[in-house]
Amino acid sequence: MAKNTLTITDNRNGATYEVPIQNDTVRAMDLRQIKEHSDDFGMMSYDPAFKNTASTTSRITLIDGARGVLQYRGYSIEELAAKSSFLEVAHLLISGELPNTDELGEFQHQITHHTMVHENIREFIDAFRYDAHPMGILVSTVAALSTFYPDAKEVSDPASRRLQMHRLIAKMPTLAAYAYRHRRGLPYIYPDNDLSYAGNLLNMLFKMTEVRYEPNPTVAKALDVLFILHADHEQNCSTSSMRAVGSSRADPFSATAAACAALYGPLHGGANEAVVRMLAEIGSVSNIPSYLERVKQGEVRLMGFGHRVYKNYDPRAKVIKSLAYDVFSELGQNPLIDIAVELEGKALDDPYFAERKLYPNVDFYSGLIYQSMNLPMDIFPVLFAIGRTPGWLAQWEEMLTDAEQKIARPRQVYVGKRDRSYVPIDQR
Ligand code: SDX
Repeated sequence: MAKNTLTITDNRNGATYEVPIQNDTVRAMDLRQIKEHSDDFGMMSYDPAFKNTASTTSRITLIDGARGVLQYRGYSIEELAAKSSFLEVAHLLISGELPNTDELGEFQHQITHHTMVHENIREFIDAFRYDAHPMGILVSTVAALSTFYPDAKEVSDPASRRLQMHRLIAKMPTLAAYAYRHRRGLPYIYPDNDLSYAGNLLNMLFKMTEVRYEPNPTVAKALDVLFILHADHEQNCSTSSMRAVGSSRADPFSATAAACAALYGPLHGGANEAVVRMLAEIGSVSNIPSYLERVKQGEVRLMGFGHRVYKNYDPRAKVIKSLAYDVFSELGQNPLIDIAVELEGKALDDPYFAERKLYPNVDFYSGLIYQSMNLPMDIFPVLFAIGRTPGWLAQWEEMLTDAEQKIARPRQVYVGKRDRSYVPIDQR
């Protein structure tokens, strides 16, 4: 019977090693026994950007990149987007199960009653320049929350972990809205506990002089679905940052601030903003061929396209594309959608993109929806962060409770100079 092992032959000295195969992987530590000389450190795997390295086992999110499949705790993203709600999905990601009526009611109660932030946080946001990028404000204020909740350091206490999770999921929309209102020079709007999660965000963003803000139900529903679609995505850059910072037993506010910082990058969560800027730069359908030529020359990237894992159409992009038309029917067509649809079609027909398996990802259409809601581009990644917070927290807790995990500390291959003598400055 075939053995579930690899036999490795070191051709430097003819030694052979047998290492077990688990989950179609070999343990990198099993390579350390491979030595040319007995006093060597032993072999390591070398994997810049971790393109082929599993950092953990997980039961939270499954991505089948070849087939374009995404499941949260075994439930398909398509079904959750069609039938669930963001807070129900947040509960699913964190607890592993869809809540029953009482559990969902209790979870919603907890989130609703943690939406306020300390008035010092409002004053802290006031101190930013009027044109401060909302993601810069978010990274800073999420980290600042750690100074208000010293109990968050009790990361080994399940009850403390749950309380901080409720606080973070509840307060992210408040921080997002405050950053937006600060930018516009508008007074902050306090949470309205009678509104839904997405409805309350719209209230805190857009309420003006009316006695009570009435969120547009189509827009609120679209936001809720977008949050579901962004809720988790296995070991992406920002989640890996959450896990790495959390592995030192830092509090979850500090770890979430690190995750927000990673998400800020244009190659990650900043791509939805970059897509809208790209579509505006293209300006018209007639300019698409020349822009695609620039992409193929390597001058620019086709933002919102490509993915480290999906080598097929990102299933989230499909849902968002159809959601966009629902929102446009309510708020009016975003003129950039025609350029986006034509650009997608031209790219998918082009061998350059087909050979590299480059398809639209979650960011390609999401920004067009936010823009049609009259949200400024620089708040798009903040909305991504709101959606991703339950996923970050679920992954953080899974890391903390995984007996195999320790503080994240990769090794390196040193290729620099060695053993140099100090040279006095007058001899350099
Ligand atoms: C998100 O990891 C996640 O799960 C992330 C995310 C999540 O939910 O957390 O899904 C969210 O971040 C989505 C991705 C958003 N970013 C963008 O849309 C930015 C544009 N996309 C790329 O920069 C790129 O596709 C990445 C960053 C998403 C993935 O990069 P990889 O896997 O490191 O791929 P690569 O850079 O090695 O590219 C492989 C080849 C290269 O060509 P060659 O050098 O082989 O000739 O494909 C080309 C790249 O030049 N390529 C692109 C391209 N993406 C890859 N060429 C043009 N346009 C692109 N968008």
